Formats: sequence, C-alpha cells, structure tokens
Amino acid sequence: MKSTKSSAPPLSGLSDYARDARKLALAPFSKFKVGAALLTVDGEIITGCNVESATYGLTLCAERIAVFKAVSEGFRRFSAIAVVADSYIVTPPCGSCRQVLWELCGDIWVHTADLKGHKKTVRLSKLLPEPFDKRFL
Ligand code: THU
Repeated sequence: MKSTKSSAPPLSGLSDYARDARKLALAPFSKFKVGAALLTVDGEIITGCNVESATYGLTLCAERIAVFKAVSEGFRRFSAIAVVADSYIVTPPCGSCRQVLWELCGDIWVHTADLKGHKKTVRLSKLLPEPFDKRFL
C-alpha cells in the first residue's frame, strides 16, 4: 500500500492499515510477516512491511521501512505507529526499530496487535527508556 491521505483514525483503525501492509511482506526465510502503519500529526498514514534478504542481516523490519519511507517523502512529525504480526504473543518493535523510531519520530504511541485481535498500546519511551540520541552528540 502506498502512502494514503486520510483523517487521523483511532489507533485501532491504524492497525487495519498495518494488517493490510503485512500482506505485502517479503519474508521467504523467516516466514514471519509483519506490517506497520505510521501516523503523522496531520493524519497521513505511511505503511511498511518487512523485506528479507538472503544475506539475512540486510533484512529490514516493517517499522523501519515505514519510517524511512515517510521521512524520504518529507514527513517529519508523527503521533503513532501500529505493528501487526501473526505471533504467539503480540510482537513489539525490535531494538533497532525502537532506536530509529525514537530518533525520527520521538515519543509516539506504539500500538501492537496480532491477527486474533490481541493488542497492546504503550508509549515508545516505555519500550526504550534512557535512549541514546542527538542530545549526547
Ligand atoms: N520483524 C519486523 O519486521 N518487525 C519487528 O518488530 C520484529 C521482526 C521482521 C524481521 C524479519 O523479517 C522477521 O520479522 C523475523 O525476525
């Protein structure tokens, strides 16, 4: 799904975008498909899915694809991200994604959900306490 103009949906609505984005995941190695949907302060939604490489370490997570897409399209201010995976327990962003989200999006809401309807919402600062960022440089 490409960037979509819309009015800001509630966080549960944002998850629907992440669920759709997940269908586009390219995950032939892990088979673990993830979708993300990033919400700007103006209500724009930018989606991403994980894309895997045969050189496993080059794989990119859905969250980072969404945020890099968004920044590369000129978006700078964000309020929330939704992440959807089909996991045994609701999947939070990995450590690398937490760092990138913190630096590029700030203390946004992180809304995680699985395909069965389990969900959890926390502030990014709860997932990444005491972060390193530009303040230290
Ligand atoms: N993955 C994500 O896309 N987001 C996460 O938050 C966790 C992991 C992807 C990376 C890889 O393609 C697969 O899930 C298994 O780690």
